[in-house]
Amino acid sequence: MDLTTRLGPLTLRSPLVAASGTVGSVVDFAAVGAFAHYGAAVAKSVSEDPWPGRPAPRLYPVGSGMLNGIGIQNPGIAAWLETVAPRLPGAGVPVWGSVVGRTAAEFGRVAAAMSGCGVAAIEVNLSCPNVAGGVVFALDPAASAEVVAAVRAATALPLGAKLSPNAADIAGVAAAVAAAGADFVVVANTVLGAAIDPGTRRPGLSGVVGGYSGAPIKPIALRAVLEVRRALPELPIVGCGGVRCGADVVEFLLAGAQAVALGTVHFTETRAAGRIIRELRRYGRRHGVDRVADLIGAWIPWTTDG
Ligand SMILES: Cc1cc2nc3c(=O)[nH]c(=O)nc-3n(C[C@H](O)[C@H](O)[C@H](O)COP(=O)(O)O)c2cc1C
Repeated sequence: MDLTTRLGPLTLRSPLVAASGTVGSVVDFAAVGAFAHYGAAVAKSVSEDPWPGRPAPRLYPVGSGMLNGIGIQNPGIAAWLETVAPRLPGAGVPVWGSVVGRTAAEFGRVAAAMSGCGVAAIEVNLSCPNVAGGVVFALDPAASAEVVAAVRAATALPLGAKLSPNAADIAGVAAAVAAAGADFVVVANTVLGAAIDPGTRRPGLSGVVGGYSGAPIKPIALRAVLEVRRALPELPIVGCGGVRCGADVVEFLLAGAQAVALGTVHFTETRAAGRIIRELRRYGRRHGVDRVADLIGAWIPWTTDG
């Protein structure tokens, strides 16, 4: 099976992308993971100054999923450029940087600083609060567009905007970031969630509300991909949320994603990508599919009267 896939200006050797924050800084994971099976790996999001993150507990399993409230802990762009960036060429996979900030201007400055360091693309993590309005950028089309425009002005690299399934109208946000210069969208980040331990009466996370990820969010992410694809058929999409096996990858491709990210699965199975690619190839043999590209958007509706 030909695994090559086009994502706007990028050509990926495999449709699998390692999701930001789930493979550490990328360089550490390269030693234990099998990056040969990925088309790209996304580094942990980086801000201008160091962010200390939230205190423990920051991870809490719920059902077959996981809540996290890390608070986007990161060393800041200067330390990142010194300690992580020089090791990226040895990762064995094209690495995308991920930028985060509290204002559009901060996003732009981080992207500018990151631009010359060898990353193949920049992902804009819109799932953090906007200091100006207090609301998470990704929930608001105008605020998201302002951030993407600032990053677009700061770098010539391929640009992806990572959207939130918590947005009331994710297709509206996708349209706004595409108009502002995003080459592709990542659909999507974690779903807001919370848990309370009945025994201790304490929340699962110190920050109380966090991001829910893993298998239970797959239908939510898939719905979001379908909505974005329906509204913007030409906009390239990385599907992301709850992927655990080859069949999940096929589902996201059929829904209209050009590539598919693996996140939480790495916490239980570091080398999941190799198994998932084997499953994808088996699917191809069984169903007579020679190219991943032939699956993209190829779902079949029950009725044809629309
Ligand atoms: C522990 C943890 C840390 C994460 N950190 C980031 C991050 O720094 N930047 C980002 O854009 N997404 C981050 N994410 C979100 C993932 O990249 C992914 O979008 C999300 O977990 C949904 O995919 P999954 O269900 O396959 O995990 C993080 C997720 C987890 C579980």
